[in-house]
Amino acid sequence: MENFTFHNPTKLVFGRGQLETLPTLIPENVERVLVVYGGGSIKRNGIYDSTVKLLQDHGYATYDLAGVEPNPRLKTVQKGADLCKNENIDFVLAVGGGSVIDASKTIASAAKYDGDAWDLVTREAEPQDALPLGTILTLAATGSEMNAGAVVTNWETNEKYGWGSPYSYPLFSILDPVHTYSVPKDQTVYGMVDMMSHVLEQYFHTPTNSPVQDRMAEGILRSIIETAPKLLNNLESYEHRETIMYAGTMAFNGILQMGYRGDWATHNMEHAVSAVYDIPHAGGLSILFPNWMKHNMHVNTERFKQLAVRVFGVNPEGKTDDEVALEGIERLSKFWSALGAPTRLADYDIDDSQIELMVDRAMKRGPFGNFTKLHEGDVRSILQMSL
Ligand code: NZQ
Ligand code: ZN
Repeated sequence: MENFTFHNPTKLVFGRGQLETLPTLIPENVERVLVVYGGGSIKRNGIYDSTVKLLQDHGYATYDLAGVEPNPRLKTVQKGADLCKNENIDFVLAVGGGSVIDASKTIASAAKYDGDAWDLVTREAEPQDALPLGTILTLAATGSEMNAGAVVTNWETNEKYGWGSPYSYPLFSILDPVHTYSVPKDQTVYGMVDMMSHVLEQYFHTPTNSPVQDRMAEGILRSIIETAPKLLNNLESYEHRETIMYAGTMAFNGILQMGYRGDWATHNMEHAVSAVYDIPHAGGLSILFPNWMKHNMHVNTERFKQLAVRVFGVNPEGKTDDEVALEGIERLSKFWSALGAPTRLADYDIDDSQIELMVDRAMKRGPFGNFTKLHEGDVRSILQMSL
């Protein structure tokens, strides 16, 4: 392993009815809370009313920032930061999925920064401070509830980047599986594809001694594979929502990535695709990941073989290493498409007309990936394989 320091300051409050603890989690001296949410799901399922009532009953003044888009946009983030400055907000509460949480993280830092929020996203400026932030998660997917990352899109320039700083960790996150009952089937599938992709990004890491991390990663993948069909048959199963919610957080809160660097190239490519076409993040991942795997299978075939055998139950007897590795990739792709996830960019009516723009956006910060570096030609090939 590489030397490492691990520190994740987010307090995780998990389970049925845990929303009630919200007032005890907000720091002392907070008076004015900005409640950030998306297009209205929390109004329909009642989470908005319970949250705001709880805050107001405990004497907090509440302000709303509604309408955060899936793939949150810079203009909404800037609006939130201006609201914080104008209304002297002293706490940001994100109620929603990854988009709402990412927007809130960026708002919390931009509220304490004099320039444009985009400077933080492009990392031209480092935040020196941020408003404290808490989250109430309503969709199991990104892991944003317990990590420091945030992804924001500038739709004017077709750029979508991830950024983060030590100030971006939520102070607390409340995870009640019941809050995810109303997540529709397609978003439930996307969430599971996203968390599996997070595990895979880390599974394909710089070569190192990682038997414990590998088994943890394989355990999360196997648990999602076993639970996914059962959950899709019963979207209001507490047990299955609970398993998936916990898996999503564990997949991307830093615990799997101790002692090595994950790859993350597929995420970088997907952000370029959704910056140009505004497709759901995990829809892009389910198309790109199997093709990234095929393209890079020979970087370390042993790793692909291990995944195939241990996670997808491929029988290696009488087969070459390449055959075993490829069978594992095929099984992953089939598993995702059986859940209802897309397999080709054509499923979103994406053709080759904007490939060069996507390549350009993916290459913005130079060659990328830690398992192996992707250069312009690699990105172009993987996108073409995905059409
Ligand atoms: O906007 P509302 O009305 O709330 O509806 C949302 C949205 O339409 C809906 N939804 C959320 N909770 C619901 C619900 N519908 C019914 N019942 C509920 N309980 O689901 C839709 C998608 O929500 P969104 O937040 O966009 O999904 P997700 O959590 O997948 O987040 C995607 C964003 O996160 C970024 C992605 O790039 C994308 O921008 N990512 C963030 C990461 C991070 N911060 O660590 C890592 C990820 O890899 C990812 O890149
Ligand atoms: Zn992701």
